[in-house]
Amino acid sequence: MEIQISIIISILLLFQSSRIISGQQPKVRLSSRTERLALFELRSTLGLRSKDWPRKSDPCSGWSGIKCRNDGRIVEINISGLRRTRLGRLNPQFSVDSLGNFTHLTTFNASGFSLPGSIPNVFGETLNSLEILDLRYSSVIDPIPSLLGNLSNLNQLYLSGNGITGIIPETLGQLSKLSVLDLSQNLITGSIPVSFSSLTNLTSLDLSSNFLAGPIPPSLGTLKSLQFLKLSNNSLSASIPAQLGDLSSLVELDLTTNSLSGSLPMDLKGLRNLKKMMVGDNILDGTLPGNLFTSLNKLQFVVLNHNNLSGPLPDVLWSMPELRFVDVSYNNLTGILPSPRLSDTASARVLNLSNNQFYGNLDSSFASISFIDLSGNYFEGKVADEALLMNSSLTSNCLQNLPSQKSLEDCTFFYTAKGLLFDNFGLPNATQPPKASPSRKKSRKWIFILVGVLGGLCVIALLVLVLVLCLCKRERGVADQTTRSVTNTPPVGGTPGPSGGSKDFSEVGEVFTYEQLLRATGNFSESNLIRHGHSGDLFRAVLEGGTIVVIKRVDIRTMKKESYMVELDLFGRVSHTRLVPFLGHSLGHDNEKLLVYRYMPNGDLSTSLYRKTREDDESLQTLDWITRLKVAIGAAEGLSYLHHECNPPLVHRDVQASSILLDDKFEVRLGSLSEICSQEGDTHQSVITRLLRLPQSSEQGSSGSSAAICAYDVYCFGKVLLELVTGKLGISSSNDATTNEWLEHTLPYISIYEKELVTKILDSSLMVDDDLLEEVWAMAIVAKSCLNPKPSKRPLMRYVLKALENPLKVVREENTGSARLRTTSSRGSWNASVFGSWRHSSSDITSAPGQTATREGAGSSLKHLSTIGSQGSGGGDLSTSNKKPSSDIFPEPSDLPDIERPRAD
Ligand SMILES: *[C@@H]1O[C@H](CO)[C@@H](O)[C@H](O)[C@H]1NC(C)=O
Ligand SMILES: *[C@@H]1O[C@H](CO)[C@@H](O)[C@H](O)[C@H]1NC(C)=O
Ligand SMILES: *[C@@H]1O[C@H](CO)[C@@H](O)[C@H](O)[C@H]1NC(C)=O
Ligand SMILES: *[C@@H]1O[C@H](CO)[C@@H](O)[C@H](O)[C@H]1NC(C)=O
Ligand SMILES: *[C@@H]1O[C@H](CO)[C@@H](O)[C@H](O)[C@H]1NC(C)=O
Ligand SMILES: *[C@@H]1O[C@H](CO)[C@@H](O)[C@H](O)[C@H]1NC(C)=O
Ligand SMILES: *[C@@H]1O[C@H](CO)[C@@H](O)[C@H](O)[C@H]1NC(C)=O
Ligand SMILES: *[C@@H]1O[C@H](CO)[C@@H](O)[C@H](O)[C@H]1NC(C)=O
Repeated sequence: MEIQISIIISILLLFQSSRIISGQQPKVRLSSRTERLALFELRSTLGLRSKDWPRKSDPCSGWSGIKCRNDGRIVEINISGLRRTRLGRLNPQFSVDSLGNFTHLTTFNASGFSLPGSIPNVFGETLNSLEILDLRYSSVIDPIPSLLGNLSNLNQLYLSGNGITGIIPETLGQLSKLSVLDLSQNLITGSIPVSFSSLTNLTSLDLSSNFLAGPIPPSLGTLKSLQFLKLSNNSLSASIPAQLGDLSSLVELDLTTNSLSGSLPMDLKGLRNLKKMMVGDNILDGTLPGNLFTSLNKLQFVVLNHNNLSGPLPDVLWSMPELRFVDVSYNNLTGILPSPRLSDTASARVLNLSNNQFYGNLDSSFASISFIDLSGNYFEGKVADEALLMNSSLTSNCLQNLPSQKSLEDCTFFYTAKGLLFDNFGLPNATQPPKASPSRKKSRKWIFILVGVLGGLCVIALLVLVLVLCLCKRERGVADQTTRSVTNTPPVGGTPGPSGGSKDFSEVGEVFTYEQLLRATGNFSESNLIRHGHSGDLFRAVLEGGTIVVIKRVDIRTMKKESYMVELDLFGRVSHTRLVPFLGHSLGHDNEKLLVYRYMPNGDLSTSLYRKTREDDESLQTLDWITRLKVAIGAAEGLSYLHHECNPPLVHRDVQASSILLDDKFEVRLGSLSEICSQEGDTHQSVITRLLRLPQSSEQGSSGSSAAICAYDVYCFGKVLLELVTGKLGISSSNDATTNEWLEHTLPYISIYEKELVTKILDSSLMVDDDLLEEVWAMAIVAKSCLNPKPSKRPLMRYVLKALENPLKVVREENTGSARLRTTSSRGSWNASVFGSWRHSSSDITSAPGQTATREGAGSSLKHLSTIGSQGSGGGDLSTSNKKPSSDIFPEPSDLPDIERPRAD
């Protein structure tokens, strides 16, 4: 019993003593009646709960957040974290005039306590003892009252995260005792007051995330105690004042996301204590001064991303003892990265050097860095080091055997622009490409003249021959016979026949050695293969000197060897800006003949219509309408040249999207020229037809027995146009049933009478407004007329070109056309109406004005080609290829009973 009692007593005693200890400071009671009244006033206006500020107890001891001096005067009011009564919550306001009565108040903390309204003037008027004012995130609005400048004892001023507007009052510069000034995350405008230079005791200045503009006042450099200077996310401009280098106490400098320009001041040496330097996302230029870093040897973080900094990365970075994070991404820095020294404490470093212009090889020393982002540069060679592969991002460089790298073209361009050799190919050092000597050019001219004269003579001879032959075989009248006989005539103008030696071609373009081109393609490596074409394999290659070219390798053991001769022959005689630029050839090798063309940066239409924006990106970029129209016109120009300006007319025979090559400006250069041949039974045919009235010969074109007529190109071009309108890839490259079905389904949506119909087949990725839609409509109409099943009803290429050049004329002229046209529904008259004034009979082809410069050389030397080039991959001798083209080349239905004869009269 006694023990129990003594325990109870001792517990009671303990309790008693603990109360004494807690109230160790002699119980202070609020001494000022004014202050008591003012507190109650505050209590009710703020709506504080009696749980926190109980009415019965003395505020000095019983109210939370209230602190009193020994003499019973209130020195601290801290309502941060207090909650309001329901009523108080409903009507929160900053009506705290009563605050003015706390004349000894040193601290007012309302951080996070909502006080909507402006900062009351009482703070400046009477609270002269105030040392700490914390109104962070208190929903304060309106400008800072300049009277705050009268708080001469103020040490810390926090106003961040409010809706404060207006400019920073100059008077804040009078707060000579201020050590912390935080005005961040407000809506403050204007510039940084120059008066801030008087805040000599300031240790932290945070003005970030406002709308401050103008330059950083150089006078800030006088703030010798400043440790934190944060001015990020404003619109500060001009250069970083060198005077900031005097901030010898500065630990953190954050100037991110402004419009600061100029170069990084060389003279920041004074920043002996700087640990963080963040100047990203500005428009700084110039180089990274190496000595800047030597002196700042406490630096830990350097952020300079998204600027225009150029020059090399100073290698002194590697030897900085404290440095652990560097972000210089998105700049224009360049050079070969200095290898980090392994002895350095580099293992804890994170480096972001991405999206610059660094180049050269990467050695394993970079693996010592814990993470390094090197993406978006021009590093080359192989990366073998496992650790480096693990700890780094290496995409979008020029590295071998790694996915998602820059294009060969990019890399080669970069390295050659730097005068360096790009080692992806093991190419020797850059040398000038062999230039054609002037004497050779001269001799070439002579040859041309010779070819011309001989060609002219041969044309005459040939004409006579053909006439004679045709007269002899008038009963048979088969075109094949005609062409074959042409083939058998001796080659014209020194141009070799299919079996002729290659020496004559040496004048066509540059002559390369096989070894030269072998090197240029990296031994025809798979990685340089563009595609297997039907007339040879296409390789990307870089000539000595850096020119990027495309090389076609024709293996005459597996391909028909004539195809390359067709091209050489063609390039020897014609040249036009719409044909792919031919650079030269190498014919020395027994089995492999090589043709060299200029590289077309935009590939061909089939790959350009939609292209991936980036290697790793799924989204597709599509050619806009303006470009598509430009491409259509360019291709039409090329074909128009072949059909109408060459004599005899040349038929391309391989018109499809992949034959339409695009240079860097999306100008069309027609490629796939190995199938070209002269139009079968050209000039003479119509002469014969007229003279001898051989109905068979006029029929052959449409019955499909004849391969090479210009109308075939027109048909294929129609499909290309349709591909441009509908965005349906592959239409122009195939003739199969699916394609024909698709055509059958699509063409009815093209109507000269109803514009809107075309929107149903329009490429959905095309953005076209109403004006453009008319052009789309016009192109669709042109396409449809090109696709007329009857060759004779198809427009001539030069009218197609005219129509594409004036697309609106096609639709508008028609719209104002006669009612008769509107009521006719037959395709033929529809077609006729579209091309109304331009429409000419197919006999126009033959009587086309021979305004061509190549006329003299054209002769009929191309004649033999028509018998040579058959479509498809199959080789074979001349006699089989003679028959082959028919079905391949003439895709349109041949079951049309009514074949209109050309209106030759
Ligand atoms: C007052 O300030 C301190 C920090 O200085 C804080 O922890 C406290 O929650 C604040 N509020 C009250 C009512 O005491
Ligand atoms: C004000 O109170 C908050 C607590 O809510 C505290 O974090 C803050 O440091 C206080 N302000 C000052 C200046 O002590
Ligand atoms: C406190 O001061 C204000 C003006 O600053 C005055 O209007 C008021 O009467 C004073 N007394 C109390 C109890 O609020
Ligand atoms: C504020 O201070 C200035 C001097 O710095 C003085 O002229 C002015 O009267 C003061 N205002 C108040 C309301 O005390
Ligand atoms: C600045 O601060 C130091 C101590 O940090 C103090 O001794 C000095 O008096 C202060 N100066 C002013 C003008 O308040
Ligand atoms: C920049 O400041 C504005 C205004 O205070 C703010 O809305 C925005 O979120 C800030 N941006 C950043 C990145 O801090
Ligand atoms: C990057 O620097 C190179 C010179 O090294 C210069 O030609 C190029 O214009 C610069 N690019 C930008 C975006 O400043
Ligand atoms: C090729 O370039 C390298 C440096 O890139 C140089 O060392 C070498 O001497 C050059 N060789 C020739 C043949 O110019």
